[in-house]
Amino acid sequence: MFSLTRQQALHRVYTTPSPCLYVSAHRSLVTDLKATLKSVIPARRERFLKVKKELSGKTFGDEKTSIGSILGGMRSQKSLYWESSMIDMDKGILFHGKTIEECQAELPQIPSISGSSEINEMVPEAMFWFLLTGKIPTQDQITGLSRELAELGELPDYVKKTLDNLPATLHPMSQLSIAITLLNNESKFARAYEKGIPKAEYWEHVYDDTINLIAKLPQIAAKIYHNTYKLNRINGDKLDYSLPGKIDLTKDLSYNYANMLGMTQESANINGLTEVQSQDFVNLLRLYIALHGDHEGGNVSAHSTHLVGSSLADPYLSYSAGIQGLAGPLHGLAAQEVVRFVLEMNEALTKENNGSTQYTNKQIKSYLWNHLNSGRVIPGYGHAVLRKADPRFDAMMAFAAARPTIKEQDPTFNLVVKLSEIVPDILKEHGKTKNPYPNVDSSSGVLFHHYGIKETLYYTVIFGVSRALGPLSQLIWDRILGLPIERPKSVNLDTIIKNAK
Ligand SMILES: CC(C)(COP(=O)(O)OP(=O)(O)OC[C@H]1O[C@@H](n2cnc3c(N)ncnc32)[C@H](O)[C@@H]1OP(=O)(O)O)[C@@H](O)C(=O)NCCC(=O)NCCS
Repeated sequence: MFSLTRQQALHRVYTTPSPCLYVSAHRSLVTDLKATLKSVIPARRERFLKVKKELSGKTFGDEKTSIGSILGGMRSQKSLYWESSMIDMDKGILFHGKTIEECQAELPQIPSISGSSEINEMVPEAMFWFLLTGKIPTQDQITGLSRELAELGELPDYVKKTLDNLPATLHPMSQLSIAITLLNNESKFARAYEKGIPKAEYWEHVYDDTINLIAKLPQIAAKIYHNTYKLNRINGDKLDYSLPGKIDLTKDLSYNYANMLGMTQESANINGLTEVQSQDFVNLLRLYIALHGDHEGGNVSAHSTHLVGSSLADPYLSYSAGIQGLAGPLHGLAAQEVVRFVLEMNEALTKENNGSTQYTNKQIKSYLWNHLNSGRVIPGYGHAVLRKADPRFDAMMAFAAARPTIKEQDPTFNLVVKLSEIVPDILKEHGKTKNPYPNVDSSSGVLFHHYGIKETLYYTVIFGVSRALGPLSQLIWDRILGLPIERPKSVNLDTIIKNAK
């Protein structure tokens, strides 16, 4: 008689299939691939969930890694090097140790153009400078960087033509990743690598590619908006692909982005904004792009950029991978989901109230419970790392508070505010989410909506213009420091069970 070791016994518990699953798998005479897969799912899923439930608290052998972390998305596992920003569970994002408020106070701003708007915001150029160097730039340095970006901002013809030929039904994020991938044709790094250069020189070419890409993102993003939503016919015939505004070499990146979208007084002013409103929109872009630039290294867009870049793929290919990750509804797409969610809720409750928008908090709560009970998440709430309201949410709300007309005139914005007061208690009662508070996506989309960018699918593209700042500055450092290709070890369930300690 032999006796089993503890680990062999554990292995047997998790590998013996239940008799009914065994029989049903053999009874079904399946011939095609999908049906065969379907027949093996129940037993595999049951086994996976059993292991997850019972072994999550154990470690993998003598390593510190917990099995919960291996099976649960590596949450909070410290395994990535990222210099420019870190999330503090309570303070939120810190850029080189500075809070958002400190960055807003210390980073240079662009002086208001007409003086009619009293509030200026930190600019993305300054955030990029700070993320990359750890040093606060001077106003002159930022003026110089803005100029350099504006001079590089025009897209090559082949990128413009490709964007013009994409179907307008293609999701704006797919268009964005295609355009960024195409720019790899311009990569100085890829060319230099092909010729053969010493490792110590990699970073200089990665730097040049990064500046070129950041410079071109506003025109890519403006073209996507124009082509997808605003194309007019010239003389009732040909479609007019020309943008409603041009790059002005004397202006900053956010102003030029707004100008090419047609949202300034100097452009076609497609939404008929007043001078103050269009300045506020430019300031909204400045704040939004600077704020969303970096959120440490583990989020999907940052990590994908870093991972793909570790293979020495150039910055265009690396960031286009990051953009694909940003397009997921649990990540960057949440901003579009929030506004759609709020608009749908408003429509449903107004209908329930026979056309009146004066519905009660009780009705909102009941709508939220129905939504949760149907197995869906409330977009704009929760966070994988943070355990309080996202300070980026607070910064966007402070932007709105400083412009009282937003609250006075915009029922959708007021609904977002009301939800931020109601949802946390509901999520606490629901009892699943570790963070019941609003994240940044709760507030950003609704502000774009306020200034007339009502095409919700577009919001993540603006996020894509911003997220380049952090991951690409880290990519430059990856090459400066000679970081190696990423290659973590994966393990199967049998190995996990055998090694559970
Ligand atoms: C951001 C997010 C993906 C983080 O995921 P996470 O790290 O797995 O979050 P948690 O650990 O708190 O999740 C635990 C449970 O709470 C649920 N949960 C988290 N946020 C929730 C929300 N806003 N509404 C309802 N349920 C939520 C999760 O789905 C999970 O349920 P499960 O155990 O049935 O799988 C998640 O909070 C979410 O889906 N939020 C809504 C989408 C969003 O706003 N994304 C933008 C993030 S900046």
